[in-house]
Amino acid sequence: MTIILGLESSCDETAAALVTADGKVLAHRLATQEEAHRPYGGVVPEIAARAHVEALMPLVEGALADAKLTLAQVDVIAATAGPGLIGGVMVGLVTGKALAHAAGKPLVAVNHLEGHALSPRLADPTLAFPYMLLLVSGGHCQLLHVRGPGDYVRLATTIDDAAGEAFDKTAKLLGLGYPGGPAVEKAAAKGDPKAVRLPRPLLGTAEPHFSFAGLKSAVMRAVQSGEHSVEDIAASFQQAVIDCLVDRTRRQLVDATGISALVVAGGVAANSAIRAALEALAADHGVPFVAPPMWLCTDNAAMIAWAGAERYAAGMTDDLTVPARPRWPLDPAAEKARGAGVKA
Ligand code: KG4
Ligand code: ZN
Repeated sequence: MTIILGLESSCDETAAALVTADGKVLAHRLATQEEAHRPYGGVVPEIAARAHVEALMPLVEGALADAKLTLAQVDVIAATAGPGLIGGVMVGLVTGKALAHAAGKPLVAVNHLEGHALSPRLADPTLAFPYMLLLVSGGHCQLLHVRGPGDYVRLATTIDDAAGEAFDKTAKLLGLGYPGGPAVEKAAAKGDPKAVRLPRPLLGTAEPHFSFAGLKSAVMRAVQSGEHSVEDIAASFQQAVIDCLVDRTRRQLVDATGISALVVAGGVAANSAIRAALEALAADHGVPFVAPPMWLCTDNAAMIAWAGAERYAAGMTDDLTVPARPRWPLDPAAEKARGAGVKA
């Protein structure tokens, strides 16, 4: 059975994992940099890159030890090659190239977004192509038609902030610290989602895209008014995000034909309220709903190893000159959404 070593270092998690081509996770190790970045309220690229250098090889060795394997027994090396913070991406990709070269193994350069996009198939091997994917993370908010490895049609994207970015900025405004998503979800559970009137940008519009910048500004005004509790603002904010995600996804589901499931992936997919709302939406439209387990939603190396497995099986390998890419859209043919600040 083909064994794939995956490396991840595109943001603030360093990770190494070993996965088999039939979807068994033999080992996965992860070191988070949360503590290093917390004093700054966000990820500092230079600190991240340095921390990846220190953490990565011990994680690789740890994962190999957990799986009782040597590098010689690994068949394929898969490393994130973008998009992300370029210093961190280079650490993982150069390490992957060095290991591939030293051990004489093929290299697969993985798009981090493809890691998220295919992760549901690692969790659920029965999930068939094509499926509709809501990819919601710290840097991205997209609806995609997933047809196979390397084969994506982007249906919608954000014209300003990503959903996770909105959670992180709201957490900062509410004094909940970094990372923001889990903290906002926890506070929201104790608040009233109807307490604060907040906008739902682009809700119900004919254009397919997402927008969260106006929501963030409204949260700022609610905080400054001093009229609401942190819990009520968090709950109202989370409900506004849910309403936008559900509305935009519904707009696509109405026209969708031949999809096997509605799938959610990316760090924001770890949010239970968002998962529940999407599950209800899928049920409304009579399509199965699939979400990877929480640990597979946030950044990890098992999803990178798995994307490497899928690409390798499809005959897609890379040579050692493959570049690190700070920007790397899954659907290069997609037109720029209106507005500035569109990611990837
Ligand atoms: O996929 P990910 O780990 O990294 C990127 O590729 O961006 O996503 C991180 C994002 C952060 O913005 C974080 O606040 C958000 O996912 N997140 C959450 C939750 N857990 C993580 N957002 C809402 N609720 C959560 N429980
Ligand atoms: Zn990610």
